[in-house]
Amino acid sequence: METRSQWGTRAGFILAAVGSAVGLGNIWRFPAVAYENGGGAFFIPYLFALLTAGIPILIMEFTMGHKYKGSAPLTFKRMNKKSEFVGWWAVAVSFVISTYYAVIIAWAMSYSVFSFNLNWGSDTEGFLFNEYLNLSVDPGQTGSFVPGVLIPLILVWVVVLGILFKGVKKGIEIANRIFIPALVIIFLIIVIRAITLPGAIDGLQAFFAPDFSKILQPDVWVAAYGQIFFSLSIAFAIMITYSSYLPKKSDITGNAFITGFGNSSFELLAGIGVFSVLGFMASQSGVAVDEVVAGGVGLAFVVFPAIINEFPGLNGLFGFLFFASLVLAGLTSLMSITETYVAGLVDKFKISRTKAVLFGGGTAAVISLLFATQGGLFFLDAADYFINQFGVAMLGLVEVVLIAWILREVKSLQLHANEISDIRLGSWWSFSLKFITPIVLGYMMFGLFKQNILKEFATDNGNYEGYPDMFITFGGWAVAAGALVAGIIMATIKWKSSSQ
Ligand code: PHE
Ligand code: NA
Repeated sequence: METRSQWGTRAGFILAAVGSAVGLGNIWRFPAVAYENGGGAFFIPYLFALLTAGIPILIMEFTMGHKYKGSAPLTFKRMNKKSEFVGWWAVAVSFVISTYYAVIIAWAMSYSVFSFNLNWGSDTEGFLFNEYLNLSVDPGQTGSFVPGVLIPLILVWVVVLGILFKGVKKGIEIANRIFIPALVIIFLIIVIRAITLPGAIDGLQAFFAPDFSKILQPDVWVAAYGQIFFSLSIAFAIMITYSSYLPKKSDITGNAFITGFGNSSFELLAGIGVFSVLGFMASQSGVAVDEVVAGGVGLAFVVFPAIINEFPGLNGLFGFLFFASLVLAGLTSLMSITETYVAGLVDKFKISRTKAVLFGGGTAAVISLLFATQGGLFFLDAADYFINQFGVAMLGLVEVVLIAWILREVKSLQLHANEISDIRLGSWWSFSLKFITPIVLGYMMFGLFKQNILKEFATDNGNYEGYPDMFITFGGWAVAAGALVAGIIMATIKWKSSSQ
């Protein structure tokens, strides 16, 4: 049997893990989530979630990958034959996410070019939806391809699959060694420029002003856990896959702490940058910071371009750096999520990496074309919501319950990690995995099912975003359920060769 690929250096692994963790979630999700959930006071539930779920699960996944030396499916299968499907389920969820995540990177690529001439004009919202995305169909319809999205999308896949072809050490590790330091430098430049803008202080004050009444609300704690899960790339199969390439001697616990705190530092930095710029925007238009706060697509592709228009000099360059940072953060995350299915296919079917990249990555690339159509944004939004809530969050719950309560692996994983790590795991770790995380995630899932099934959204029909039932059924539920079904089917297929 071919020996398993390995990282060349410890720094290489950490950069790759941080590269996966630091993504769009840090830049456009965290600042808005923190602001809406208590500002400065949000740091209490956030840190609690980091220390009771984020880092403990990261340590757990690093240890699983290191101990069982397999892609997520192989790792789960080696723990217990019957749990293989959980690994494939996670891989299927990752597969779906990769198909639309690539599209957002493609938009950012286009916008980094648009920056130079401020192509978006003064109506940045109209530009995004009407001109760039050409969104003129109803949810559920595709319309025709949008070349402005299609071309950068192809480029994104060429870059990512090209890197994955090269392998773990020569491809993923080298790419992260270049992209992550570049990202940090670019981001620092942006943040330094941002905090020195007029009005920045007001933005920061709005961001950090603690609303302590919020921390008594359960929703705020749920938001903190949700942010930590998504942000740390846990329960995506990613961290298991990456740690399966670690050498025997590895300080697993130390690596997890560095990854966890590295990611959170980047979030804090993004919060400071984003709110400084929002403060500037508010002061320019003479409104309260409150009125310009945004997150997600709206923040990056509507509000930011509008701010860049107002920029005091070098606006083209500032815009380019901002969108380039989205591209870099996105590419390193996309690499990691694509590697989950490449590794799964290599392990299960004993095919070469080249074939796995061509087949797995190729299929994802073809499916992603759906999101480069006129109706692409609606498909993307529904898939994103359902796959995150009923894929990633649900998987997190299934994973911890399985490991802590059904397979009862906590003790043996703890021994394994302690044997090779500098920091010893104690009762804090097992208590977090056995009790705190399952209770919080269980509560969270209950609330999510209730809200979606009983249609409790504040929209006309009570559905998420007010989308029609048909679209919610096929574009949302079927996608999330499909990942589970795909996982179960993959687990029933026979493993190639008996050496497993
Ligand atoms: N951790 C990433 C982020 O914060 C999320 C992610 C990772 C999404 C990998 C897709 C793939 O943005
Ligand atoms: Na992140």
